[in-house]
Amino acid sequence: MDNILNAIKECAKEISQMLKYCDFGYSNTINKTGDTQLKLDVLSDEIISKKLSKLDNIKALISEEKDEILNLNENAKFIVAYDPLDGSSLVDVNFSVGSIFGIYDSKISPKNLVASLYFVYGPRLEMVFCLDKPYLFRLDENSEFIKIKELKLTQKGKINATGGSQWEWSDTHKSLIQNLFNEKYRLRYSGAMVADLHQILLKGGGLFSYPSTTNAPNGKLRVVFEILPFAYIFEKAGGFTSDGFLDTLFNLEISSIHQTSPCFFGSKFEIQKVRKFYLGEINESN
Ligand code: AHG
Ligand code: MN
Ligand code: MN
Repeated sequence: MDNILNAIKECAKEISQMLKYCDFGYSNTINKTGDTQLKLDVLSDEIISKKLSKLDNIKALISEEKDEILNLNENAKFIVAYDPLDGSSLVDVNFSVGSIFGIYDSKISPKNLVASLYFVYGPRLEMVFCLDKPYLFRLDENSEFIKIKELKLTQKGKINATGGSQWEWSDTHKSLIQNLFNEKYRLRYSGAMVADLHQILLKGGGLFSYPSTTNAPNGKLRVVFEILPFAYIFEKAGGFTSDGFLDTLFNLEISSIHQTSPCFFGSKFEIQKVRKFYLGEINESN
């Protein structure tokens, strides 16, 4: 898998350069999940698929920006699923954005996810790579990713990051979020899951949620290339995940490559609380 990791690192360096110096035009195509595709999403996807297509141990590529799976080498072992640019609508305001990759062995199924990594394009270029344990890396002045430390979550955090708008949340979700604020959690939400989840991981805990909403009953975030790669990292860091009901996002069933799901990532305390609210064991009105 080393060749895949090395190729992905090169892609991230290229995307980082592009983000710094490219213009911010809009393309007029719509992707499978209905978002208006920004030009930078398409360019990032091209950078990645061009480089990864050359590797003979990749069976197929799945990208947020491609409607269909891109089949490469039929007998190869790995399928790489990725979100080439996460939080792309925030590039114009110069917020941190990212890229997310999940590496699956042979088929797309939660239990076949064998490694995941993501990059944060912020003031610095950082990478979190996880096989058995998640490690933080940072690009140095010689353009090398240097290992900084292992990431571990504590049992309870202080950050509350939740997506969507309050008017489209369920009463259950409203009560959960109010409860966290009553317990002195701080709101920290930028609108790029990479940056928001990275903050929780680096600060050692908290809750990130993107719930079911009236507009998107199955949530907004995509299972194969956004949710599962982060679930892998969070659980290996000692954290927990849920869709509100399941005791891990790894029990989700995948029926399509662009499938979405409500999702919750956090420390033990917060995910236990999420499930108590969603399973109806706690029923607080605001
Ligand atoms: P993308 O830029 O790949 O489409 O992803 C954006 C996602 C995710 O990063 C973020 O958590 C969420 O959209 C934000 O959505 P809301 O503005 O609805 O909270
Ligand atoms: Mn995304
Ligand atoms: Mn994206």
